Parts: sequence; structure tokens; C-alpha cells
Amino acid sequence: MKKLELDLKPCDGFFNVREYDKKVEQAYSKVHELFSGTGRGNEYTGWLNLPLETNKKQIKDIKATAGRLRENSDYIINIGIGGSYLGTKAVYDFISPKSEGPEILYAGNTISGTQMKDLMDKIRDKDVSLCVVSKSGTTTEPAIAFRILEGFIKERYGVKAKERIVGITDAKKGAVKVLCDEMGYDSFVIPDNIGGRYSVLTPVGLVPLAASGVDIDELVAGAADMASYSKNLPNDATMYAAMRNLLLDGGKTIEIMAVYEESLRFFTEWWKQLFGESEGKEGKGIFPASVIFSADLHSMGQYIQEGNRNIFETVINIKNPPFDMKIPDTGQDSDGLAYLAGKTMNYVNETAMLATINAHRKGGVPNILINLEDQSGYSIGQLIYFFEFSCAVSGYLLGVNPFDQPGVEAYKTEMFKMLGKPGF
Ligand code: PA5
Repeated sequence: MKKLELDLKPCDGFFNVREYDKKVEQAYSKVHELFSGTGRGNEYTGWLNLPLETNKKQIKDIKATAGRLRENSDYIINIGIGGSYLGTKAVYDFISPKSEGPEILYAGNTISGTQMKDLMDKIRDKDVSLCVVSKSGTTTEPAIAFRILEGFIKERYGVKAKERIVGITDAKKGAVKVLCDEMGYDSFVIPDNIGGRYSVLTPVGLVPLAASGVDIDELVAGAADMASYSKNLPNDATMYAAMRNLLLDGGKTIEIMAVYEESLRFFTEWWKQLFGESEGKEGKGIFPASVIFSADLHSMGQYIQEGNRNIFETVINIKNPPFDMKIPDTGQDSDGLAYLAGKTMNYVNETAMLATINAHRKGGVPNILINLEDQSGYSIGQLIYFFEFSCAVSGYLLGVNPFDQPGVEAYKTEMFKMLGKPGF
């Protein structure tokens, strides 16, 4: 299977080669810190070798539980927020053709009563199972959702409810762990040394994805191959980290991930969390944004072409999308499209991408291009690991701890005070 390709050529003309070489040297030393465990937050680098260490027994256990959920359910509800659902949704939405298993629905990623009501309406006459995912086990949003949905499951299935609830949480601490032990729910452990946004390749993502019928072996294999490849220098993830930091030095404070397939929408959300939470601290960071082209060329395209020149783009291209359609020859040209008759939509989409890269470059926006072979689990496994690795190196280049998120507590403290939570 083919490795993803990083193409930095569309950045040509936007940087000084000597400075790039210097940045690459710095990045190499950060890779060394990462592997030697001497960098900041090194107690949270368990994801580094995770895909290479995931063993058959772990996968077998996950598949056994997932198989049970799969057999019994029309829907799997993933209860979790941030790193406890974004990676799962990114992979689930990407894999094509869609798995034939139960659809994954999401709860606990907002506190919207309307969203919860819509979910309850949707599942009313259906068979459902719950994956409750929370590393800390104390996060308010999923905890509220779990109260409601556990009640629903217990009422619907009585003593058999416990066959339909799986907890994915910390080994020791947290309410979800206590609950699973007390109620006899199956539970899986999120390793201590892996933070939420780096956890999609742990049971956090693997259990719900396997339950929905996604081939998790393929996903892990893609990540494992990228992990082996990234052990040596130079590697693509390190070059990407070096380039984005060099662009930042040149005043490019915003990175926009641009994709041309709807299937990548939630991958961009996962990526924004990964980089936003990892780098945005101590007054530093590159602001991660995203667009879905060509739709957003008709909304954000104007700004990207001519607005404040503090942006660069990272484009993800799927070289072989799973489906294509021919543009029909209608025998007339009243719409001025006869010149495209017989061509395929993917051909036009790819041309739009290449043309947009040219136009944006001419407008002063450097581009980084990442080519993926196809829309498979293997390809997204590679992509996940590529960004995890580059995020760690990039955070080290910035001089921050890419594995903590102290700023996330601020809204919670204010909210708990206003809600009257004891102790606040
Ligand atoms: O990356 C992170 O650590 C966060 O985004 C968490 O995943 C998110 O806050 C949810 O936390 P928890 O899994 O503890 O409920």
C-alpha cells in the first residue's frame, strides 16, 4: 500500500532556503527530544509507539465486545467530547464504502437540550448500545448525556441493559470507571500516557469503530507503517512541522486545512482540536481553521485570495476517491459546458484544486499539499499518525508543552461557579 506524500513545492518563493534548513535542523533535535522522552509533557507520549505495540489480544478483546454491540444494535451512541469523539467521527465519516454495521450517533459533545431531544426521537423505536468515553470520567457534557441515555437503556432493556453499555476510561480514577465496576459494564482502559486528542487509536476510537463495522486492523496498520517510517529522519511529518513553523516566523499565523471531499470534514475538526489544544498556549500557536472546497471557495475564497496575508493552507488531496461520475453529453451547449462533456467530476474537482493552489499562491498564500492514495482505513491511519507526530514536533519547536490543555479549565470554573457546583 502507498504512503501519503507531502509536497512542499507550493510553498516555493515564500521562504528562504537557508532558514528552512536551519528550521529542519531544529526540528530534528525536537524529534530526538520526543523519542528520548526529554521534552515537555513526555509522560504523555504513549501514542508514539502505540500502533506498533497494539497486539492481537487487545484487538481480539475489542472485536469481541464490539461484535456483541454490533449484533444487537441499530445505533451505537458514542458519548464523549473533544478527543473522546472527534477522531472516531473523523474515521467513521471518511471510510468508504460505508460500513454496513450500525450507524454511530454522538451525544455528550454539546449541552443542547434540542440536540438531545432529536437524538431521543431518533432512537425511540430502535435498538441501541452506548460507548461512554471519558478519560477523566468527570467531564460535564458526557456525564449529563450518560445520565439520560443510561436511564433510557435501563428502562428499555432491564437486566440486559448491561450488555449494551461499554465504558472507555482511565484505569483507576473517574466516575465512569467507578460506575462500570459497580454496574458490571464492560470497560476498556485509555492508557495513562495518552491524552484525549491523541487517543483515537486506543479503545476510544477502536471500540465504537469496530462496532460499526470499520476494519480496525487496516486503520492500525496504516498508523503503524507511518510510525515505523517516522522513526527515521528525514520524514514527512518533521518536514511539515518545520515548514509551518517557518511560515509562522514569516507572519503566517493562521493555517487553513482545505479539503475537496465532504468525507474529510470531520477530519479537519479532529485536526483543529489536535493542533489548537496542543499549540495554543502561552500566547503562542498557529490558529487552525478549515474549509471544504469548492463549496467554501464561494464563501471564504474571497478572504483567502485577497484578505489579510497572515494565512497559509494545507490541502489534503485524495488521489483516488471511491466513486466518480461522468458529466453527460446532452448534445447542446446552452449551459456552456459542452467542453466538459465526457469528463468526470473527479477530474474537474482535481483541476479545481490545482487551479486554486495556483490562484492562492499568486495571492500570497503559501500552500502545503498532502496526497493520500485513497479513502481507506489504511490511508486515514497514516494521516492520523502523521499529524500526531508533526503536532508534537511542531509544539516543541514553538516551545510549548503539546500534551496539556490548562486553558480548557477556565470556562469550566466560571460555569461551575454560576451553576453552583459545590466547592466552586
Ligand atoms: O484532548 C483532550 O484531552 C480533551 O479534548 C479531552 O478529550 C476532552 O476534554 C474530554 O475529556 P474526557 O475524555 O476526560 O471526558
